[in-house]
Amino acid sequence: MLRVFLVGKMERTIASFTELVLSDLSKVEKRMGETPPGVDPNLKAAIKQLLSSGGKRLRPTLTLLSGEMLNADPQRIIPLAAAIEMLHTATLVHDDLIDGALLRRGNPTLNAQWSAGATVLTGDFIFARAAHLAAETRSLELMRIFAEKLMVMVNGEITQFFRTSTGNIRKDYFNRINEKTASLFEVATHGASLLSDCEEELRQEMKAIGYEVGMAFQIVDDILDFTGNQEKVGKPVGSDLRQGLLTLPAIRYFEVHPEDPAREIILNGRSQSENELDEVIQRIRDSNAIHESFDEAQDFITSARKRLSQMPPGEKREALFDLADYIVQRPF
Ligand code: IPE
Ligand code: IPE
Ligand code: MG
Ligand code: MG
Repeated sequence: MLRVFLVGKMERTIASFTELVLSDLSKVEKRMGETPPGVDPNLKAAIKQLLSSGGKRLRPTLTLLSGEMLNADPQRIIPLAAAIEMLHTATLVHDDLIDGALLRRGNPTLNAQWSAGATVLTGDFIFARAAHLAAETRSLELMRIFAEKLMVMVNGEITQFFRTSTGNIRKDYFNRINEKTASLFEVATHGASLLSDCEEELRQEMKAIGYEVGMAFQIVDDILDFTGNQEKVGKPVGSDLRQGLLTLPAIRYFEVHPEDPAREIILNGRSQSENELDEVIQRIRDSNAIHESFDEAQDFITSARKRLSQMPPGEKREALFDLADYIVQRPF
């Protein structure tokens, strides 16, 4: 499933469903790398480093495949795909600073090398560049959705930061992952449909596909935080619960094991010793909660596949099926 391709000047291992949009993906890569004249050389170097550090490029691939399946205007799909990946890049820059993460895509993060101030500013610049690229779609509706979803994502990150809770931790979790992750996948599929002349009904289905793929993606990312190894994932693992962040595997585990002594402490946000945390993480890893969480991700993908089967048939749709399946092939 995974092969090595040359994207721009970089060798990158990517999934086979990317093959169909490889040349457009190179154009996207080029657009992302452009900086206006006069930009500070430090900023330019930082952007170059961020873009050359890899990443799965899932969101632009999803955008391009969706757009091409629906016959969207290629001149406008490419800047949209670039805008979405730039937005994603900016959120990662800020997310790693907030989380104090030192590794991303197997490389030191920007905050591991630079001060918080310089890191924030670089993220801001990339956000602005994303908006600039989004404007090239010449769709006011898309620009509005783009800005709206950015607000939603930031809100998701803030909710996570302050551990804001409604008292229903499962509901809080699904809300949060919708906001911080699924919303951008939604822009990819819905945005692509807005650049084609398909029916509104189909657009709503594309939006739902993006949402479902995005939800499954974040659940799997949260599972990998328990089961993954740092080398393979390219970022620190085992860190969510250590940071007091309750994700689906932990939520499921405590639903089934209300007697676990760690439950009250973690649910009330009180800190535990490193040893106790290691032990509860191990109990979660060894429990059915991992596979049960995975089943929940799989349910989202099953629903997305069902919607996809109503889309125009062809190789782009087949690649989208593969992309959806790839999301739930990652954890084991
Ligand atoms: C990481 O996204 C952030 C999440 C939403 C979990 P990706 O796993 O798509 O990151 P890259 O771009 O491939 O590094
Ligand atoms: C995704 O959440 C972050 C954003 C959407 C910005 P995570 O915090 O789980 O992402 P990773 O695990 O750091 O990639
Ligand atoms: Mg993070
Ligand atoms: Mg994570």
